[in-house]
Parts: sequence; C-alpha cells; structure tokens
Amino acid sequence: MLKVNGLEITARSAKERLVKSISFEVGKGETLGLIGESGSGKSITAKAVMGLLNRRMFDIGGNILWKNEEILSKKGNMPRGWRGEQTAMIMQDPMTAFAPMMRLGKQIEMGFELKGRNAKQLFYEQLDSALKSVNLADMKKILKSYPDELSGGMLQRVMISVTLMKKPELLIADECTTAVDAASEYMILKQLEQQRKNGMSMIIITHDFGVAARLCDKVAVMKSGNIIEKGKTLDVFTSPQTEYTHELAAASVLFREDVC
Ligand SMILES: Nc1ncnc2c1ncn2[C@@H]1O[C@H](COP(=O)(O)OP(=O)(O)OP(=O)(O)O)[C@@H](O)[C@H]1O
Ligand SMILES: [Mg+2]
Repeated sequence: MLKVNGLEITARSAKERLVKSISFEVGKGETLGLIGESGSGKSITAKAVMGLLNRRMFDIGGNILWKNEEILSKKGNMPRGWRGEQTAMIMQDPMTAFAPMMRLGKQIEMGFELKGRNAKQLFYEQLDSALKSVNLADMKKILKSYPDELSGGMLQRVMISVTLMKKPELLIADECTTAVDAASEYMILKQLEQQRKNGMSMIIITHDFGVAARLCDKVAVMKSGNIIEKGKTLDVFTSPQTEYTHELAAASVLFREDVC
C-alpha cells in the first residue's frame, strides 16, 4: 500500500537534515511500529507522509508511493482525498487537531458530509458508540464543550474515535495512548486491534514496547533521523541487532520492573 523510499526532510531555517534517507513499507492490513527516542524524527516522518509539512519551511526529498503511484509532488500538494479518505492521522498533541474557539460538536460535524436528518441521526448513534468504546460515556456534554474544557486524555480519545469513524485505508497513530489512564489505554488498543483485523493498514508511533509488541507486525527503530534497524517485531525485540535497540528494550523492561 505505502512505500517510502529515501525520504529526506530538511528544515530550511536551520539547513539541518532532520530525516536522512529512510525507507519503509506498509502492506494492506499490516501494522508498522515506528519507535525511537524523543526527537529521533518519528512525528516529522509521519507528517511528511500525510502531507502536513509546509514546503516553505521544509525541503522534502525521496519518494512516497501509494498503491505504486508517486504522491509526493514538488509543490507539496497531496492527491485529492489523500487526507481524510485514504489516510488519517491521530496527532500526538490532541490540542493541535481542534480549533480552540469552536465547540467540539460543530468541528466534528464539519469533518463529515452529513446530508439529511437520517444521515445525521445515524452519524450520532455511531459517534455515541465510538465514544463509549473508548470510555467516554457523555456524548452530549462532549459535543457542547470547547477543546480546553476537556482533559488532554479525553480530547485524545475524542480524536481517536472521530478519526476511526472515517475508516481510512491507512491510519497513522502518533503516541495515541500517552495521555490516557490504563483502562482507557486498554480500550484504545482493543479498537486499534479491531481495525487491524478489518484490514486497515497502520503506522503506530510509540515509546511503549508493550504497545508495539501487541499491535505491530513489524517495527522500525529511529535514531537521529535514521532508521537504524527494522524487521519483524518479535525478531527485533528478542534479538536486536544494534546496541541502541537493545538499550531501548532494556530501559523499557527496567522501567516496568521499577514500577512493579
Ligand atoms: N517545525 C519544525 N522546525 C524545525 N525543526 C523541527 C520542527 N518540528 C520538529 N523539528 C525537529 O525535528 C526533529 C524530530 O522531531 P520529531 O517531532 O519528529 O521527534 P519525535 O521522534 O516525534 O519525538 P517525540 O518522541 O518526542 O515525539 C527534532 O530535532 C525537532 O526539533
Ligand atoms: Mg513525536
């Protein structure tokens, strides 16, 4: 489905190469985990794939192919329907996904083409059930709220529900369980697992090796803008080929032991 070849991203202001010729693929119904330390380039890679980087600020090189067609144009416009229909992204910071001065109900409705009363009624029934499945019981209250009237974790779950309702062919989820409690995390992971079973292709960006082990068929480990290791999740986690991956895995296990 998605083939990224030699992707390079440079910030024009700093002339600094943030992502250095990375390549990866995601097949139909396949889940790729992008893991690596903070600042290694995971989010910026995802934004480049989505076409969310402003070309006046960033130079982007390489190829991004979707179903064998190049979608990375020189001017930076992605094909019609790329965002929203073929792909959707759950952003790392949920506040950036919503306009601060508009009630959530209005914003959510604007993201869908709802023609007629029946379509609206069906939509809200589906939204109610999507919100309940991520532990949000009061849809009416949420729809009346402004984004900053919800906690970060609540807003993140609203964004996840709305994004999944769009049923994209490729979903990118950037640290989508970082702001939520353990019960909500479990419910979100269940939702993502269900989508995977339904054939959705996914890129899961996470610091959490447990999340990656549970959801991802394969992982790519990023460090300083490079992919330094990639392979099947189990292979990479059980016999890492680089010291860095070994340390990342060990740090995550140590942390859990500490906590437990
Ligand atoms: N708009 C921007 N302009 C210039 N540099 C940027 C911009 N956005 C990100 N960067 C830089 O790109 C690098 C990668 O950032 P990115 O957000 O992709 O990291 P990340 O791997 O997602 O980290 P985290 O796990 O903390 O979310 C960082 O050095 C960051 O400072
Ligand atoms: Mg990030």
